[in-house]
Amino acid sequence: MESPFKADVLKGKVALVTGGGSGIGFEICTQFGKHGASIAIMGRRRSVLDSAVDALTAIGIPAVGFEGDVRRQEDCKRVVESTFQHYGKIDILVNNAAGNFLASAEDLSPNGFKTVLDIDSVGTFTMCHEVLKYLKKGAPGRSPSDSGGAILSISATLHLTASWYQIHVSAAKAAVDATTRNLALEWGTDYDIRVNGIAPGPIGDTVGMSKLAPDEMTSKARDYMPLYKLGEKWDIAMAALYLTSDAGKFVNGTTLIVDGGLWLSRPRHLPKDQVRELSRVVEKRSRTTLVGAPKPSSKL
Ligand SMILES: NC(=O)c1ccc[n+]([C@@H]2O[C@H](COP(=O)([O-])OP(=O)(O)OC[C@H]3O[C@@H](n4cnc5c(N)ncnc54)[C@H](OP(=O)(O)O)[C@@H]3O)[C@@H](O)[C@H]2O)c1
Repeated sequence: MESPFKADVLKGKVALVTGGGSGIGFEICTQFGKHGASIAIMGRRRSVLDSAVDALTAIGIPAVGFEGDVRRQEDCKRVVESTFQHYGKIDILVNNAAGNFLASAEDLSPNGFKTVLDIDSVGTFTMCHEVLKYLKKGAPGRSPSDSGGAILSISATLHLTASWYQIHVSAAKAAVDATTRNLALEWGTDYDIRVNGIAPGPIGDTVGMSKLAPDEMTSKARDYMPLYKLGEKWDIAMAALYLTSDAGKFVNGTTLIVDGGLWLSRPRHLPKDQVRELSRVVEKRSRTTLVGAPKPSSKL
C-alpha cells in the first residue's frame, strides 16, 4: 500500500532500530528509509542483520547493522557509539526488540519472567539511557536550530486489561509504557526530546504473532476483532512515521494503540435483534409498574 506521507518527512534523519532485522522492526526501517532516513539496526544474529541491510541497500536506503543484545549495557553503549560514528548523529531511537512465548503463570519460572523484563523493559531503558546524549537539543551532530530527537518504544495491548499466558510480557510492556510517560515528562521538559510508544494489536506475518497465535487459533481470534482482520506491519510503520516525524511534533508521552479497536472488544452476550425485543418488553413492563414513593403502610 502507498504511504500517505510525503517521501521526505524523515529526510536527513538517522534512526537506530533495535530488533530492526525482522518483522515489525524491519518494516519500520523500510518505511523510515523510504521517507528519507538512514538506518542502523541492532540485533543479536549477524545473518538476520546482514539480510536486512542487504534488502534495504538494494532499494537505495543507507543502512548498517550492529550486533548486540539489549540486555547488556556495554552492547547498548557500543551500538549507540557505532551508529554515531557511522552517521555523525542520531535523531530517532526505536525500541522494538522483544522476547515472547506463551506460558501459564504457574508454569513460568521467575527466570523466564525476568528474561522478558530484561529484554523489553530494562533493554528499552538502557538504550534510552545510552542514546540520551545524542538526542538532546544541541547534541553533537545536531544543528542548533533542530529540536531534540525522538524515542519510540513498541509496546503491546496485553497489559491494558489482562491476557492469558502472557503475565511476563504484560508486566514488561506495562513498564515500557511507564518509561515512555516518565521520559516524556523529564526529557521533554529538560531536553526537548519527544518520547512516545505504539501498542500494536495482533499483526499478521510476524514471528510474534505466529508464536502467540498459531494458525489453528487465528480464525477464532478474528471473530472478536471489530475490523475483523489482523493488522499489517505497514499499519505500525505508518503510526511510527506519524509519531517520529513533524506530523507528531506536539505529541509527547502517548502510547498510540494500533489494533483496530480489539482491546475494547467483549463477547456479545445478545444478538442485536434480541436486544431490541428485550428492551421493548422491559420498557413496557416499567410503564405498567407503579413507581414512586411506597404507599403508606396501614401498620404505620
Ligand atoms: N507481532 C505482533 O503481533 C505484535 C503484537 C504486539 C506487540 N508486538 C511488539 O512488536 C515488536 C516486534 O515484534 P515482532 O513480532 O515483529 O518480533 P520479531 O520479528 O520476533 O522481532 C524481534 C526482533 O528483536 C530482536 N531481538 C530479540 N531479542 C533481542 C535482544 N535481547 N537484543 C537485541 N535484539 C533482540 C530479534 O533479533 P535477534 O533474535 O537476532 O536478536 C528480532 O529481530 C515487539 O516489541 C513486540 O513485543 C508485536
